[in-house]
Amino acid sequence: MEIITSSANQTIEFASNFAKQLTPPSIVLLSGDLGAGKTTFAKGFAKGLNISEIVTSPTFTILNEYSSNPKLYHFDMYRLSSKEEAYELGFEDYFAKNDGIILVEWAENVKGLIKPPYTKIIIEKISNTERKFVVEEVK
Ligand SMILES: Nc1ncnc2c1ncn2[C@@H]1O[C@H](COP(=O)(O)OP(=O)(O)OP(=O)(O)O)[C@@H](O)[C@H]1O
Ligand SMILES: [Mg+2]
Repeated sequence: MEIITSSANQTIEFASNFAKQLTPPSIVLLSGDLGAGKTTFAKGFAKGLNISEIVTSPTFTILNEYSSNPKLYHFDMYRLSSKEEAYELGFEDYFAKNDGIILVEWAENVKGLIKPPYTKIIIEKISNTERKFVVEEVK
């Protein structure tokens, strides 16, 4: 599935609707260049789960956890320098015991560590205001 949005607000709406139709446990992996719109998507995604807190990228903490229903585990793997570091942080336990929805930014940094099923979303910058979202279910 592919969709193009023409503003950050449209991305927020798309992500919000996308999150609403998920049933836990679910894993969503986001990839795309700097400024592609991963965090904007995450904000809309959280909105769809009725999370009213301000959603920012957990760049320094790696994980932000929200006690919504379903729960949201928001990871940002940008600063992970190795898969070993991911193991040390024990993050695979979250995936094994997923009791909610996991959203991962920069999933490419932990390639191979996250096992299907998951939904993969690749964000491409088309212009200053347009983004293409390529959504793929990986079974
Ligand atoms: N259609 C669009 N969808 C999403 N963001 C858009 C769109 N058009 C413009 N933007 C702008 O692009 C920027 C996207 O930034 P965002 O922080 O979401 O990207 P990111 O992928 O998380 O980047 P980083 O990897 O640096 O954290 C925002 O400033 C946003 O307003
Ligand atoms: Mg970001």
